[in-house]
Amino acid sequence: MQKFDVSILGFGTVGAGVYKILTGNHDDIAHREDLDLRIRKILVRDFEHEPNLGLADMSYFTTDFSEIVSDPDTRIIVECIGGVEPARTYILKALDAGKTVVTSNKEVISKHWPEFEAAAKNTGAGLYMEATVGGGIPILKTIIDSMQANNIERIMGIINGTTNYILTNMAESGVSFSEALSQAQKLGYAEANPTADIEGFDATYKLSILSSMSFHAHMPVDVIYREGITRLSSEDFDFAKKLGYEIKLLAIGKKNGNNIEVRVHPTMLPKTHPLAAVRGVFNAIFVTGHAVGDIMLYGQGAGQMPTASAVVSDVIYACHSDGHHKYMTFRNEEKMTDEVNLVENFRCRYCIRVNVVDEPGTMAAISEVFAKHNVSLKDVLQLGAPDNGVSSRITFMTHEANEFDIRSALSDIGKLTCVHAIESMIRAEA
Ligand code: NDP
Ligand code: HSE
Repeated sequence: MQKFDVSILGFGTVGAGVYKILTGNHDDIAHREDLDLRIRKILVRDFEHEPNLGLADMSYFTTDFSEIVSDPDTRIIVECIGGVEPARTYILKALDAGKTVVTSNKEVISKHWPEFEAAAKNTGAGLYMEATVGGGIPILKTIIDSMQANNIERIMGIINGTTNYILTNMAESGVSFSEALSQAQKLGYAEANPTADIEGFDATYKLSILSSMSFHAHMPVDVIYREGITRLSSEDFDFAKKLGYEIKLLAIGKKNGNNIEVRVHPTMLPKTHPLAAVRGVFNAIFVTGHAVGDIMLYGQGAGQMPTASAVVSDVIYACHSDGHHKYMTFRNEEKMTDEVNLVENFRCRYCIRVNVVDEPGTMAAISEVFAKHNVSLKDVLQLGAPDNGVSSRITFMTHEANEFDIRSALSDIGKLTCVHAIESMIRAEA
């Protein structure tokens, strides 16, 4: 049986979960995988403030990274510190020393992946990141190891649990965004500083990794169109319900030849779509391959044990691949390759709600602007505003239209004298 010593950087939620699985499941893993996985060292920031110290013998702990990177027995380093520094420096030093790195840190991977990949190839070390996307859901291995026969045409996912919890709560309990956010914070789903989740940054980090692997081209995080959920209101959910839709923060990637679009934004989905049924903190990723068709993976996108499950799976995979680690199928360079044509003027459907003067000619004036910008209307719903008899709200669901045409149409509609305000614009997918 092969013995592998594993050291862990960061002993918070995920790091402690990895320790629990590697120690608690040691014998089962040894029996099934023929691997003797041993914890060697655990890096903590300081001994005073580390709440998980009681889990392991004190002899494991160190506050000195050099002790780990220079340790000849440590072959695999699991990074669960999070953020960019010092995680980036530690990962690079580990790879330079020929040690395989397994990480759950989507931010550092999405921002520094090319330099990590180059360092790994240089020393023959492995670089594994299953837990960075979808927590415990084995989506990356599914794409890399089980969908190689396919040209992946589309990925659509709910890949942030905090925002899905907030949106589910707004849809089902009718609460405002700020109420739903504060409930998510009380339950420990959202961080004290929730910006990365609610503004969509976390989902863009994950989409950068997911789309790069799916489309075999590095899709840097800064090419992804991003819109968070902070502007959604209770009215948006009322109207979505009336039209038969759910609203989800979706990460979307589509590929057609060399044309690739990547975007994260609130999205209306028909209630019948499988992703519309994903509630609370759960994640799900819907993938379309040219040969396999549609598949969907569903599960816990965060949490100690689901995330540690993905990390330990990578550790086992890395042990079996020792000396023959697989690298990305594409040239992993900082900038997007010239061979990809980034589609910014993407096409989808749009749900637009306008507050208007309730008088003859209003509908005609707005329809004329849509027509001028090649936007065709699918459904129209007009409801008088509850406050008075002179204004009204009209919700338009368009057929597929170009993003840039919609932006120009909305700019012109906003200038019409019969329009009080464009209250919302939410993209829709089928
Ligand atoms: P935690 O904050 O719970 O744990 C991070 C740990 O790293 C803390 O104990 C922290 O100590 C420690 N740390 C910080 N700086 C250093 C340092 N310089 N040296 C040693 N230790 C340090 O985070 P999580 O475990 O939740 O997340 C870890 C990573 O996994 C992140 O990248 C996160 O995005 C990712 N992830 C997390 C998921 C989850 O459900 N929690 C799901 C999927 C991915 P201190 O408290 O003293 O700062
Ligand atoms: N903040 C992330 C989420 C944690 O809510 O999904 C898991 O990556």
